[in-house]
Amino acid sequence: MLISASMYVSAQKPLPVIVDVEHPKAKIQSTMWGIFFEDINMAADGGIYAELVKNRSFEFFNPRTGWKVRTKCKDSSALIILNRNGKHSSNPRFARITVNPDPEGYCLTNYGFRGMGIKAGAGYDFSMLAAVPSGGEMDIRIELIDQSGNKMGGTTLKISGSEWKKYSVPLISERTDTRAKLNIWFESTGVVDADMISLFPQDTWKGRKGGLRADLVQLLADMKPGFIRFPGGCIVEGRELETRYQWKNTIGPVEERHLIVNRWNTEFSHRPTPDYFQSFGLGFYEYFLLAEDIGAEPLPVLSCGMACQFNTAEVVPLNQLDPYIQDALDLIEFANGPVSSEWGKKRAEMGHPEPFHMKMIGIGNEQWGPQYFERYRLFEKAVLAKYPDMKIILGAGPSSDGDLFDFAWNELHKIKPQIVDEHYYKDPQWFLKNVNRYDHYDRNGHKIFAGEYAAQSDYVCSPNNKNNWECALAEAAFMTGLERNADVVTMCSYAPLFGHADGWQWTPDLIWFDNLRSFGTPNYYVQQMFSTHKGTDVLDITAGNESLSGQDGLFATAAWDNEKKEIILKIVNVTDKPIIRNIELKTKKSLVPGAQLSSGCSTDVFAKQGYKSG
Ligand code: AHR
Repeated sequence: MLISASMYVSAQKPLPVIVDVEHPKAKIQSTMWGIFFEDINMAADGGIYAELVKNRSFEFFNPRTGWKVRTKCKDSSALIILNRNGKHSSNPRFARITVNPDPEGYCLTNYGFRGMGIKAGAGYDFSMLAAVPSGGEMDIRIELIDQSGNKMGGTTLKISGSEWKKYSVPLISERTDTRAKLNIWFESTGVVDADMISLFPQDTWKGRKGGLRADLVQLLADMKPGFIRFPGGCIVEGRELETRYQWKNTIGPVEERHLIVNRWNTEFSHRPTPDYFQSFGLGFYEYFLLAEDIGAEPLPVLSCGMACQFNTAEVVPLNQLDPYIQDALDLIEFANGPVSSEWGKKRAEMGHPEPFHMKMIGIGNEQWGPQYFERYRLFEKAVLAKYPDMKIILGAGPSSDGDLFDFAWNELHKIKPQIVDEHYYKDPQWFLKNVNRYDHYDRNGHKIFAGEYAAQSDYVCSPNNKNNWECALAEAAFMTGLERNADVVTMCSYAPLFGHADGWQWTPDLIWFDNLRSFGTPNYYVQQMFSTHKGTDVLDITAGNESLSGQDGLFATAAWDNEKKEIILKIVNVTDKPIIRNIELKTKKSLVPGAQLSSGCSTDVFAKQGYKSG
């Protein structure tokens, strides 16, 4: 595989490139290339979670966000929001609609997530929880409308009785629109209560009702990721402890999942998204299922009792840390425990009696300072006491260099963790200069999880960062260094994963999408090529007796695939010129001639491959 953006010309004095096929250096773990998922940039609600209705349960700070009322009624109480706190503490609010005799009718419109992506000929499932308090009936007409207000499809529904019930009805759209809306007309006189008003495409991933967007999951599946880290990211921590990610609130019936504000909602004044909340429709059960579907190891990351240190830096006192540690133990039981256990039973009730075989857990995200390490130790002790085979990941902080990193480095050498998560959001030059970062790490020390990295074309958090070729090539070069050191580096993931074209906060992102379309960036195809051409054993690839790592602008890694019996070469050319090299394979193996450039390579990439027996 060769990755380059250049034209084809000869180099002046080519160094011989030699691949030693006979002496594999290290095993490449199946987890080597994975995925980092965080609900940032509308990755979950408005993204991979296929729900089209925004604020379906009226639980946003402003319960009317996403909704518009259309009526000629003079009575301002036509729509009121009631709160049954106490009885339904996880979903207290619902809408009460009073319909007086009105020739124009009464309509609630939902605007979706920057509109709704609706496709011609596709089926949709409308549903709502509803009751008629008086015990009578209410006729409802449902309509999909396009950006100009024209009807695209619709159906009707009758609500009856004073008991809350779920009503569901399918409908089909005649036309396509990226920013469609949903109209709900209440056509009888009287009062109706409504909650969890929902619209899902039927064409979800694996056709699951209330499931995930098929095109976005397909892009993930196509990467053949070794793991999925979830749910982040800073979202693990929360801006304050109250808004940390609490996995127990994300399982069970969706109407009982306690919605909270998304911490990216107001993070950046340059990209405010005040309508960004977490419904947890994509919760921990769906996450485990997704990982299983696409053959990735689950890697949950949990709060260590410290809120985001870039925000409030709120810390739970050590003597109050037990519930946080218990959350970690219970999550492992939820994933792996027998159906007779408290949390294994909940998993089985959701439809998955078999365990999810979770083997790893991250404690804290980008934490730093002594408070982190004292909390980490307590988690590690408790988790290993109950689950001695669990792999636990310690975070090295927000950056892979500087004072915070140096402090972490000292501390972690006292703790001797199994795996350490390092993050790098740097400019492309940093990536090129640091390709050899792990060449000198202790081969008998902790393993490295390169848990978040992305070359920044402008600067970290700049809205002008681009997913350009320079960044993609710099990452590819850096990744050759990660793979060459696969005895130390066992997991890697680019971050962030998703960006909604109309709802993002952070750029660059691996995959961009809008309400109907999605596409991988150059960075995505770099990740995909490395992941789908991983191999099982690292081979030496040298130029002038040194790893091919920067000489003449070439960076390389080589691998042997023991299952496919293939030699895989990944060579990155970061110059603006094509380079021709003879590549010699030192081997006693008999080779089948006719090696091919991997699919997905740029067509103007070229290298000449000369094969020799060693
Ligand atoms: O990937 C975006 C953010 O970058 C993550 O939430 C955080 O861990 C890092 O600072």
